[in-house]
Amino acid sequence: MNPAKLRETALALVADDKGLLAMDESTPTANKRFAAAGIPENEEARRAYRDLIVSTVGLGECLNGAILVDETIRQQTRNGISFPKALEQQNILPGIKVDAGAKPMAAHPAEKLTSGLDGLRERLAEYTRLGAKFAKWRAVITIGDRIPSLGCIEANGLLLALYAALCQEAGLVPIVEPEVLMDGDHDLARCADVTETTLHAVFQQLVSQRVLLEGMILKPNMVVPGQKSERQSSDSELAEATVHTLLRTVPAAVPGIAFLSGGQSGEQACARLSAMNSSYRGRLPWALTYSFARAIQQPAMDIWRGEDANVPAAQKALLHRARCARAARQGQYTAAMENSQESR
Ligand code: 13P
Repeated sequence: MNPAKLRETALALVADDKGLLAMDESTPTANKRFAAAGIPENEEARRAYRDLIVSTVGLGECLNGAILVDETIRQQTRNGISFPKALEQQNILPGIKVDAGAKPMAAHPAEKLTSGLDGLRERLAEYTRLGAKFAKWRAVITIGDRIPSLGCIEANGLLLALYAALCQEAGLVPIVEPEVLMDGDHDLARCADVTETTLHAVFQQLVSQRVLLEGMILKPNMVVPGQKSERQSSDSELAEATVHTLLRTVPAAVPGIAFLSGGQSGEQACARLSAMNSSYRGRLPWALTYSFARAIQQPAMDIWRGEDANVPAAQKALLHRARCARAARQGQYTAAMENSQESR
């Protein structure tokens, strides 16, 4: 392990008021989103779509890193440049999702455990050769009737910590992603409670496994009420609940926290991140930024629809959402940005 190098990369991932793009949908998830947008579900369509993303001029103004998936890290742009190289040409660090997905957990109905530790050391060595500078592993925590269980939270926390330790051994900065899902009708307080318990457990395991906190990034959910909750909260209530929960659980040594969007619209995710940064920036020990997938990509995918002729309009929409996210990181996102010509 090279602590100085890990620190440097982790700081680079959250530098300059920029954030990250998750473009690491597994093949089944990419196919599901393509089907909904009327796009053919095949490898060439996935390659062409990711090509559209990495070829968007100006994306480097908004992103320090982009998370690829196994299929994509091995593919090339139409011009014959590998995806990691294409990202680096825009000063965007390439990362790689290394988990093998959340699977049903034995003896824990309705709960999931993430798999992917088998052979991970060897896969990390290969991804490093392919140009990856950081990695991602996602654990899923579901809120429901008498769940999450302690067993599910602790096991997912241990797997995240074992993954993070292996990444640091290989010289890759681990993105540690324990996602408390938005599904359900629970209220804001319940999400805050579950997120706090989860993050406490995750950091206990990270410390036990000797993970260098300065050389990792946390990727949590924002604290929000369930999507079916009758009482939706204001952006400032969500910002306060999220920041409060993070202050109670995330050590100051961690350089950055990069939120997932989790099914929030681009506008919602940006308004809430912006509320956190405008109200609390300067009082927080870590950077608060974004590692969105849907909240940056969705309009571009809907516009593209698999047609070459739609690439310029899709790239414009992608850049717009990325610029909105950057403004949110600066605490300066406003709804008016959605109509302004400047950011389009
Ligand atoms: P969303 O922003 O769409 O939630 O995706 C983030 C992510 O990387 C999930 O693993």
